[in-house]
Amino acid sequence: MMQEPIFDFKSMPKIELHAHLTGSITRECLHEIWKKKKGAGETDLEDPLVVMPPGNHNYDLTTFFPLFSSYIYHLINDAESLDYSTRSVIKDFARDGVVYVELRTTPRAMPKAGLDKAGYVSAVLRAIDAAQQEEPTLHARLILSIDRRNSREEAHEVVALAKRFRDQGVVAIDLCGDPTKGDVSLFTPAIEEAKAAGLKVTIHFAEAEASASDAELSTIMSWTPDRLGHVIHVPEAVKQQIAARTGIGLELCLSCNVHAKMIVGSFEAHHFGEWWRVQGPIVVPCTDDVGVFGSPLSNEWALIQQHFKIGRDEILGLARKGIEAIFGGDDEKVRLRGIMW
Ligand code: IMP
Ligand code: ZN
Repeated sequence: MMQEPIFDFKSMPKIELHAHLTGSITRECLHEIWKKKKGAGETDLEDPLVVMPPGNHNYDLTTFFPLFSSYIYHLINDAESLDYSTRSVIKDFARDGVVYVELRTTPRAMPKAGLDKAGYVSAVLRAIDAAQQEEPTLHARLILSIDRRNSREEAHEVVALAKRFRDQGVVAIDLCGDPTKGDVSLFTPAIEEAKAAGLKVTIHFAEAEASASDAELSTIMSWTPDRLGHVIHVPEAVKQQIAARTGIGLELCLSCNVHAKMIVGSFEAHHFGEWWRVQGPIVVPCTDDVGVFGSPLSNEWALIQQHFKIGRDEILGLARKGIEAIFGGDDEKVRLRGIMW
């Protein structure tokens, strides 16, 4: 059979719905920030290019989370580096042909910058705004993440921030963080508060065996989330529940799952192959943490074409289907329908 012509995935207009802000910062950007701070005698940290050697994308669940808590959060710890890195993330997505992105971030105080959590969210939104002025084809929204290690009160604080910054581009709440930690049932009241306020809800779901107990999956399904991220260790009965939820978004992150060995086998074994044809749910390929796993969204689509042998029209149809899973509202959907092939 004749090989499909190579598709130019960079120029294909794309939607990114699962990208963690700090995890999306490239090593080169981290290096630039480090170089400036080092030159000014403001940091004792090691060069990011040494800590995260270019080409090394094999972080697993034991090495991935400490990378943030013990390194990146110490480097991105002031207003200038937050602003610079956020703009840089937006620019990178735009250059990769992304026309709509929902970034997510966990509000954190930056004492060095005099920023509390609200100040952090506000600074991120300002940086996104500024970057969008320079990249007018790309529209961005923000999702605020509750971390699995958060207390009930901290979770409510995230929801309160999402409500407060709603008219400035915050569209939803996420639950993320180390899947081996925490008890998600603690967050039921916070999620209910978010939903009652009309915020959308997306949840990291069955990402590891530790976060895929029957109790956890049933608690999360009872929240009727609008989208689910990862969806890896899912028992058959829960798969059927998901399949029956028309319009639920499934944010699938191929390279992340393969590099972090979250699935058994390589790309061909990824559950994208199981879900993409299922009617009802809307499958959206996403990068998760392109700064760590090194695969831009255009490459995720190339991997999909390569490993699942999906033809041009089906690829374009799938990309367009993602429009229905965005949290950015009807006007944005109309815009995307007009520009996506
Ligand atoms: P931030 O929230 O913008 O600081 O982005 C980095 C944070 O996102 C990490 O510290 C994790 O808590 C979270 N994160 C990134 N990728 C994943 C993932 O695949 N699963 C769960 N949490 C994640
Ligand atoms: Zn994630």
